[in-house]
Amino acid sequence: MSTREVTAALWRRLQGKVAIITGGSRGIGEATARLFTNHGAKVIIADIADGAGIKLAESLSPWATYIHCDVSKEEDVSATLDLAMEKHGKLDIMFNNAGVVGTQKGSVAEIDIQDFEQVMNVNVKGVINGIKHAARVMIPNRKGSIISTASIAGIAGGFTPYAYTASKHAVIGLTKNGAAELGKCGIRVNCISPAAIPTDLVLNYVGVNPSPEAKTKLEMAIEVVAPLREANLRPEDIAEAALYLASEDSKYVSGHNMVVDGGRSVVLEETAVFGKY
Ligand SMILES: NC(=O)c1ccc[n+]([C@@H]2O[C@H](COP(=O)([O-])OP(=O)(O)OC[C@H]3O[C@@H](n4cnc5c(N)ncnc54)[C@H](O)[C@@H]3O)[C@@H](O)[C@H]2O)c1
Repeated sequence: MSTREVTAALWRRLQGKVAIITGGSRGIGEATARLFTNHGAKVIIADIADGAGIKLAESLSPWATYIHCDVSKEEDVSATLDLAMEKHGKLDIMFNNAGVVGTQKGSVAEIDIQDFEQVMNVNVKGVINGIKHAARVMIPNRKGSIISTASIAGIAGGFTPYAYTASKHAVIGLTKNGAAELGKCGIRVNCISPAAIPTDLVLNYVGVNPSPEAKTKLEMAIEVVAPLREANLRPEDIAEAALYLASEDSKYVSGHNMVVDGGRSVVLEETAVFGKY
């Protein structure tokens, strides 16, 4: 190793690792692709947003590759894992991050079951497809880190559509089953539960045109309910949580749901609203 490589290895927490990031073209996935490559990982960005994904992969070249992958289709996820094996010969990190929120705005009586199924297909089937095929290539290596993006909608109800709430509860359940089974093969399985972040997913749902002013408005709404109101949540904060779970720093952490919400989920909303600080 050259002095430069030794120096890089000291601070690059994912040096030599290979990662797949689903939903990697934008938002949390994009921030994670940038952070992981900065830390020396080779990243495969798997998404259906081809234009944004190709552009991102080109900007991170030669550390990143893009593949069109609809996570709700098992054959697409399987092909993505095959690409990692053909190109890099292994997979160390699987980040099941792709997700959708659906269109439900009204009450339960108005739910469109097709929309419900679509959310479950992406958010739940997409995650089990990822865990299943990551396990297929990680088990022979006897190591790996599988991370999925859940949500604080996975630990409480009432503030997101039914399908989204159900799907994120399911992600936490899949994480627990995965950790229980795959830990015996040296594979860690964890998830991350962010609070609201003004990414396209949220802005498109609330029907706000993602202008800088609208983003500021939404950020203020988020700030009011989180105890750490001075620290608005950003995709980069979730990327840092993923970096920890992906790296050897978390080598004995498995089956964990890492909540990244500035303390929002431990405080009743009324308390936060009436708080004076
Ligand atoms: N933004 C938030 O407030 C928030 C909060 C908690 C959890 N999350 C979760 O974080 C994850 C990332 O969301 P985000 O906020 O970065 O949103 P985003 O819309 O910015 O990014 C989501 C990405 O997933 C991709 N995607 C959608 N359907 C797909 C499919 N079938 N196959 C592959 N890729 C697909 C999109 O093209 C997009 O690039 C999601 O699982 C979301 O549920 C987001």
